[in-house]
Amino acid sequence: MKILSIIGARPQFVKEAIIQQEINKFNDIEEIVIHTGQHYDENMSGVFFQVLNMRKPDYNLGISGSTHGEMTGKMLIHLEKIMLKEKPDVVLLYGDTNSTLAGALAASKLNIKIAHVEAGLRQEPKDMPEETNRVLTDRISSYLFAPSNLGLENLKKEGIKEGVYFTGDVMYDIFLKMRPKFDYSLMEKLNLRENEYIMMTIHRDFNVDIKEKLEKILKEVNKVSKEIKVVLPVHPRTKKRINEFGLEELIKNVLVIEPIDYLQLMGLTGMCYKVITDSGGYQKEAYFAGKQAAIIMPDTSWRELTDLKLNILTDENNIYENIINGKTVDYIKDIYGNGKAAEKIVNILREDFKTKIRR
Ligand code: UD1
Repeated sequence: MKILSIIGARPQFVKEAIIQQEINKFNDIEEIVIHTGQHYDENMSGVFFQVLNMRKPDYNLGISGSTHGEMTGKMLIHLEKIMLKEKPDVVLLYGDTNSTLAGALAASKLNIKIAHVEAGLRQEPKDMPEETNRVLTDRISSYLFAPSNLGLENLKKEGIKEGVYFTGDVMYDIFLKMRPKFDYSLMEKLNLRENEYIMMTIHRDFNVDIKEKLEKILKEVNKVSKEIKVVLPVHPRTKKRINEFGLEELIKNVLVIEPIDYLQLMGLTGMCYKVITDSGGYQKEAYFAGKQAAIIMPDTSWRELTDLKLNILTDENNIYENIINGKTVDYIKDIYGNGKAAEKIVNILREDFKTKIRR
């Protein structure tokens, strides 16, 4: 069986890492990996391959940094060519980025089966690019691997029944697997003490691309930073906007650092007090680490965590209140499976392929 995996953005490297380890257990599966190039800085891409022991992608398309349409269109052209050459049995896609959608469109036009890891997630606002990407990808996938029960329910509501599986979350698998290797060295370098700092990430277009919104968010963060240290590994998009809008003054108390690798981020998260984020993946990793995340979003696709108050949604005006005065609840285990999601996914694909050959 030949699997073609498509990745492009930071969270997808993490997800692919654990799937790749599972695939490597079988000598009857060949995997071709395409990196679209959507994330290209060493600290947004290369370093993940190193610390997660992944092999170099077979192809790197080097497509990034343009408008969504141009990026997705260019990817589609190149991905189709590679799919025609490689003739995979299935195309494996992760999450909700432009790389996911481009892969889905290319495979679908060539009648190649699509497997979607992280299927069934839905969230407001409906016009955010990630929502378009995930809804469209689910519509044309043959295998829909839902990480949560909510994912299953969402697909059912939309009338998608075939090929739907509850697998658990591959990000939980890798969290458990890599935990012994989490890197705590930045604690000393940044002079941080356990439970005495907040970890923050922010990069969503609807939070950082409008000056007034970003200014409000950073004003709140500025207030927080007067009471407790805030560490912000800054995403390139956010860095650009802060400079463009002249908002540097608001983060003068914040420990702004360059993006860090997975093991460093998990190390810092394990020791922090709470998390502020608008990242889909990181809000869940905060939960894995037993830390409450204040999520700067109107909604989340990981609603089970906010329903249980493990995480909280916040708007741009209440970040301080939620972080400083918000109540935390006791940890609840195993909401996203048992750490064997990747194993399940690879087994489902492999067994299904064998059955089809026999027929
Ligand atoms: C993308 C995904 C988002 C995911 C996020 C993880 C889409 C629509 N969005 O958003 O779902 O949560 O990745 O980080 O696919 N840039 C650099 N260096 C890099 C990467 C990006 O300078 O290594 C710059 C780009 O040139 C661009 C900006 O950052 O100007 C945004 O990058 P882009 O990949 O378009 O979207 P993200 O905001 O990262």
